[in-house]
Amino acid sequence: PALPTAPLAPVLPPTSVGVFAGIQPSGELHIGNYLGAVRRWVELQRQHECFFCIVDYHAITQEYDASALPQRTFDMAVSLLAAGIDPDRAVLFVQSHVPEHTELAWAFTSVTPVGELERMTQFKEKAQRQESVLAGLLNYPVLQAADVLLYKADTVPVGEDQVQHIELTREIARKWNARYGEGFFPEPQALVGDAKRIMGLDGQAKMSKSIGNTIGILEEPEAIWQRLRPAMTDPARVTRNDPGTPEICNIYHLHRHFSPPATIEEVAQKCRTAGWGCLDCKRVLADNVARVFEPIRQRAAELKAHPERVREILAAGAERAQVVARETMHGVRE
Ligand code: TYM
Repeated sequence: PALPTAPLAPVLPPTSVGVFAGIQPSGELHIGNYLGAVRRWVELQRQHECFFCIVDYHAITQEYDASALPQRTFDMAVSLLAAGIDPDRAVLFVQSHVPEHTELAWAFTSVTPVGELERMTQFKEKAQRQESVLAGLLNYPVLQAADVLLYKADTVPVGEDQVQHIELTREIARKWNARYGEGFFPEPQALVGDAKRIMGLDGQAKMSKSIGNTIGILEEPEAIWQRLRPAMTDPARVTRNDPGTPEICNIYHLHRHFSPPATIEEVAQKCRTAGWGCLDCKRVLADNVARVFEPIRQRAAELKAHPERVREILAAGAERAQVVARETMHGVRE
């Protein structure tokens, strides 16, 4: 469904030939990866050839619950389809179903300097939290480059946190082309929208499942309210009568994605004048979030009632992806 505000800027170059985007099998989508990425994927599939991939091989590069991965992969597929990814327009598939991804990644390790991998922000952040760092975590962006370049995609719609990885993808393409033949791989561009970094409900960090500061897009209205109620607001609003500054409040920024323009204006005004308390403001937001996702919730329920249909879509997607993947790998081996 079209969101009421914040239309997507038409920023695609007219020469675009192909779109690739990946997402971790983290279960249900949350409003961060929905607004930052998936909402745009749904737009892009109308006009461009699109490959959307649930990246399960990326998800094993850190400690994870192996027994839960199949369900998380399935749930992500349900969320994507419910959010509007249309298997008649786009190719939706699971990374490990197309083994050419890992094969190309191996070839790419031989044009990728370790120093480049070590300076990746996400690697540094994740590695810092671990006693023993796995080689897969270091090589994570090499697999990501293989994902994109296997389809010779030139446009990669992502949130801000992935831009550095796409820059490295460009460098890998350049190094490959310089060594083996100019023009074999395109140098893809990251496509970053206006919701490039949705903050979590703690107001401290990027919204992310691993931090637990999310709202899932399939959550029931009451659950959405329960999540929003304790969410961080402008710290200057200690009591009900303290005025606030909407621009520094995450709740206000979320309103800008979910509420109609008149409400957004009212929120700002009622915040500055302490006309509303933060709870009043959150209540309105909770209702609007629940309303925007209502049709998606319904579609997800239908899909969950027919799991075989979801599996068929993924199998057909892998087959279509593999036609392209095989051809690229043929050229790579040559
Ligand atoms: P992942 O699964 O963490 O996130 C999927 C997409 O959602 C965006 N995103 C956000 N955008 C705005 N605000 C947020 N709080 C937020 N959280 C997530 C991410 O930027 C991403 O676009 N490494 C990738 C997956 C990947 C990939 C690829 C992406 C693997 N291969 C090839 C593009 C191309 C990742 O972990 O995304």
